[in-house]
Amino acid sequence: KTTFAGIEMGSAEFAQEIAGSLRRVEDLLISELSSGEDFLTEAATHLAKAGGKRFRPLFALLSAQFGPQPRADEVITAATVIELIHLATLYHDDVMDEATMRRGAVSANARWGNSVAILAGDFLFARASRLVSTLGPDSVLIIADTFAELVTGQMRETIGTTAGASAVDHYLKVVWEKTAVLISAAGRFGAMTSGADAETTDRLARLGGIVGTAFQVSDDIIDISSASGESGKTPGTDLREGVHTLPVLYALDDPECVRLRELLLTPSGERRPVTDDAEVDEALSLLIASSGMSRARETLADYAEQARAELDVLPDNDAKAAFSSLVRYTVERSG
Ligand code: FPP
Ligand code: MG
Ligand code: MG
Repeated sequence: KTTFAGIEMGSAEFAQEIAGSLRRVEDLLISELSSGEDFLTEAATHLAKAGGKRFRPLFALLSAQFGPQPRADEVITAATVIELIHLATLYHDDVMDEATMRRGAVSANARWGNSVAILAGDFLFARASRLVSTLGPDSVLIIADTFAELVTGQMRETIGTTAGASAVDHYLKVVWEKTAVLISAAGRFGAMTSGADAETTDRLARLGGIVGTAFQVSDDIIDISSASGESGKTPGTDLREGVHTLPVLYALDDPECVRLRELLLTPSGERRPVTDDAEVDEALSLLIASSGMSRARETLADYAEQARAELDVLPDNDAKAAFSSLVRYTVERSG
């Protein structure tokens, strides 16, 4: 079976068609990021060349299967714009997080310093803006609003929960703004540029938002539940960084999780990074058996159900089957 980014492509013909479109996106991506200045081209193409699943372009390409022109040039342009925006945010995110690695490669900030990384991100945004202008003012507006939401999410995460507000609400808002909104835009953009009707376009935008949120929740579950090495990441990464994801927030809400609160919070109730290996292991075991984990799984199942309800109403085609497999994969990969 051919799969892209965890999505099963029903037939070989369909897989080939999508692979062909993804190659067009790849070519456009690299050509848009190239400039007359070699140092700029090198920094700007660094993350695109480091790899990545191209999940967002793929989501746009599949959404375009619900309009009369799934292979129009505008669809390829739209899918490329979304990836450019995504890559731009990663340059800036790695500066803010002081990350040294991204996609198995050295991050731009670690390689060239913060100034170059920030400027490279800005250059990607400039190229995305230029490219989206060819799609017309409606598209420019969608990207501008999407971009503002990404920034809002990053800002909300940076500021943290305000006193008295629910940490779970804060978490879900950040996930929506930082992750779901861009996948929602991918669905909207793909559908729109293929000439899909307004109702279908709105539906694919909603599907993107739901799938994007579900994907983040399943990532959070995997960070706690996966045995070392299985997911290609070290389990407990979030805990070591003092990041409290959905299963943790739910568990901390449970009066029975006394020892977990001792491990994850300071005596005054502040978040505390867990640095000791034995403490990380203990916290992970407690979490795996906790009500927080089962509640997070229920939340994930709720999102999957919402996604299926949106999918049910779409006409049957290869893309609908691919989306169904994506929803299944998102739930199953987290056990
Ligand atoms: C990764 O999060 C970051 C995002 C999904 C988006 C961040 C948004 C911005 C930086 C907005 C500003 C952008 C620009 C171009 C002005 P993460 O750190 O939780 O995940 P990671 O593990 O992939 O680093
Ligand atoms: Mg980061
Ligand atoms: Mg970050």
